[in-house]
Amino acid sequence: MMRREILTAAAVTAGTIAGGTLVAGSAAAAPGGGDAAPGRGTAPGLAKKDTLAFAAGSAIWIGTAVAGGGHHDSQDYPPPFTDDATYRELLGREFTSLSAENQMKWDFLRPDRETFRFDEADAIMDFAAEHGQVVRGHTLLWHNQNPEWLEQGGFSADELRALLKEHIETVVGRYAGRIHQWDVANEIFDDDARLREEQNIWIRELGIGIVADAFRWARAADPQAQLFFNDYNVDGINPKSDAYYALIQELLADGVPVDGFSTQGHLSTRYGFPGDLADNLQRFADLGLRTAVTELDVRMDLPDGAEPTPEQLEKQAEYYRRVTEAALSVEGCESLTLWGFVDTYSWVPVTFEGQGAATVMWEDYTRKPAYHAVRDALAAASGRAGHPALER
Ligand code: G3I
Repeated sequence: MMRREILTAAAVTAGTIAGGTLVAGSAAAAPGGGDAAPGRGTAPGLAKKDTLAFAAGSAIWIGTAVAGGGHHDSQDYPPPFTDDATYRELLGREFTSLSAENQMKWDFLRPDRETFRFDEADAIMDFAAEHGQVVRGHTLLWHNQNPEWLEQGGFSADELRALLKEHIETVVGRYAGRIHQWDVANEIFDDDARLREEQNIWIRELGIGIVADAFRWARAADPQAQLFFNDYNVDGINPKSDAYYALIQELLADGVPVDGFSTQGHLSTRYGFPGDLADNLQRFADLGLRTAVTELDVRMDLPDGAEPTPEQLEKQAEYYRRVTEAALSVEGCESLTLWGFVDTYSWVPVTFEGQGAATVMWEDYTRKPAYHAVRDALAAASGRAGHPALER
């Protein structure tokens, strides 16, 4: 099934926008290194076919976060994106979509009031263009990772509103026509499904109306990007996803340009699998929205530095497989992104003591059962399952 109707960054760079409108059925309609993907190399060798990108074909954009900023800054490894050649090679080869893990967040882009620091975000855009990948932008309005000068600046409501508008116009405008999906608003509800009226500076000072304005400003700055609400613990049908379901219907009735709802997908084998994931995404699809899984990882308990057991790895693989199958089963779910693909750089052990091994590759880049689970599910959906390169 051809789901995608936007151009890859490479095609945009090559000037294939017609009259400012992204052309359907062009390069981006065949991600995954397929034979009909000009700009990505039309004759990939067998090695290139042995990838998630190839397995996905045109069934879905398969993505990863690009490591940088955030927790990486406090680790003792060199910057992965620039200094780890294997990481870079796999980033370009395995995936058709990239997300900025931290490099497009406020605290990264805005060291002070006057400065926009675009170097690393630009580097991701350039890399994506070179590799025929699309990019998810993350994120514009969030309660977390805001710079201190903003949070503690004592700005008036008018000043804050002007700051957010300027930020969205500048950042979204800079990459206009080259971003597949923007996480416009991230995590605006808390774990009790209450609006973050205290934690989120924008909502606290300006009210919920600022969220609608953020979507409007983003649409004006880039009419082609799909504009998303994004959150965690909204995989299944629960009070938090219900809150989004209600809010988005109100916004749509008011003509606010909301295009999508995405669940991050930070899962743990400690908890049961959200078996109603597809049903949940489907109800948003039924509102006319796109959906996506944007930050998939599956952590496990590893007390006292224990190694994962075969049972844990099997359960992890099952979770990865089920998320992939759920995403593939929902019409309009165009994008499935892993929050990193190698354990070395995962945020999980830095954040959750005694937990880890959350990604699909070991630290030496060998593949876990979870990798094969994702690849097999993708291949089954794309019809590429029978390809010799995918036989194990
Ligand atoms: O801001 C402090 C700074 O004051 C302090 O000096 C420094 C010391 O290490 O830490 C800084 O905070 C770091 C923060 O990024 C801001 O740069 C945290 O330690 C670090 O853990 C944090 O990591 C990022 C995290 O978002 C922040 O929320 C991760 O790299 C990133 O993977 C993670 O990504 C989020 C998504 O954006 C949204 N969904 C959840 C997902 C996982 O948390």
